[in-house]
Amino acid sequence: MIILGIETSCDETAVCVVEATGGLESPSFSVLGNGLFSQVALHAPYGGVYPNLAKREHGRNLPPLLQKALQEGQLWENSRKEGSDSAGSHDSSVWKKIEGILSKEQGLFETFKELISSIKRPSIDLIAVTSGPGLEPALWVGISFAEALGLVWGIPVLPINHMEGHITSVLLDGGDEVKSRKLKVESANQVSHLISHISTPVQFPALALLISGGHTELVEIQNWGRYKKIGQTRDDAVGEAFDKVARMLSLPYPGGPEVSKQAHRAREKNLPQIFTLPRPMIHSNDFDFSFSGLKTSVLYTLRDHKKQTDKMTEDEVYDLCREFENSVTDVLLSKTGRALEEHGARTLIIAGGVVANTHIRQSFTALIQEKFPDITLRIPTKNMATDNALMIASAGYIEYLLHPENVSEKIKAQGNMSF
Ligand code: KG4
Ligand code: ZN
Repeated sequence: MIILGIETSCDETAVCVVEATGGLESPSFSVLGNGLFSQVALHAPYGGVYPNLAKREHGRNLPPLLQKALQEGQLWENSRKEGSDSAGSHDSSVWKKIEGILSKEQGLFETFKELISSIKRPSIDLIAVTSGPGLEPALWVGISFAEALGLVWGIPVLPINHMEGHITSVLLDGGDEVKSRKLKVESANQVSHLISHISTPVQFPALALLISGGHTELVEIQNWGRYKKIGQTRDDAVGEAFDKVARMLSLPYPGGPEVSKQAHRAREKNLPQIFTLPRPMIHSNDFDFSFSGLKTSVLYTLRDHKKQTDKMTEDEVYDLCREFENSVTDVLLSKTGRALEEHGARTLIIAGGVVANTHIRQSFTALIQEKFPDITLRIPTKNMATDNALMIASAGYIEYLLHPENVSEKIKAQGNMSF
């Protein structure tokens, strides 16, 4: 199956085309084309994602990213040559409908019509689009764009849970090479693949720890499509806590990688520990988390320090960031370890943007090696951990095999979608 993936739930606009094979037993993906635009620099001055700005930017970025993904996948064929089955030959009632679908996205209909009229219908079997959770104004742009493409090309559109996308991102290992390597044409009639990778199937039952800017949850997975949340944060998500701590320390947005860099310096310099932070809920008898108290502890530490001296030294900042990262990691390791003991998984998946964090990756690798040698750990590559369209296309394949009836012409954005 050739699948077009679209992701616009937060501040990353992403479009990709993948070829999926292997069925549910051993799903495997080849990336044909991949376009991603991070809006991080635009939101940085606001210290967080500004929903209406994200919405506007998604609308601007989707058409060029679609073009890039199709061109890389050699699915971009100019229609003017033969003029046969180009989308431009649609009657005006189809364009009227599409105008209605795209009416809320300023200027998008005009760009869409011009772009789509100029090319032939690509041989794509399915469009997979994130429908939640996320920022609703941002989600709607991707959904409208997907519906418009589905209508103009007559391709079914499947709504996808962004968190399932994070889970299936582990099927895309090898993704680090997507940006840098271009493989040769494999055979005369095959398109040139950006990357072709057969991944090892996930063994069930599995447990997933999902940690991102908006979510922190432990999910029990009996099989593909059978997800049960067994624990979650009661307040801030891990990524959110990283971002807020960064803001307290006047580090740029997004704060996760910045805090992590400072923490790394403390380890590199082997600095003695100055500050001590709590490990919230580490002994609680459930699988829930809480990070807002930890964030407040950082605030109090800074306030108390300010009473004594004016400015923190560099080493003190490094140490505080290391202690914060250690605290978060200790809690994640402890809860996940206990969930593994009690739920007996064969595979541990850790995924979501925060999994780009080196210390967290290394700590989970050590946990599995030392305490759970029979369990396989699956971690997405760093660039597959943060939001992208490939993870949505991979979840699209799984969901389509399980529930082809879920394709829809009227998809609704669900900001709070949950397992
Ligand atoms: O999954 P994601 O890309 O978007 C959401 O679905 O939320 O996750 C983004 C989050 C942000 O909070 C960002 O600060 C955090 O992931 N993050 C990190 C690192 N890289 C990204 N947190 C800690 N260490 C990192 N290296
Ligand atoms: Zn995400």
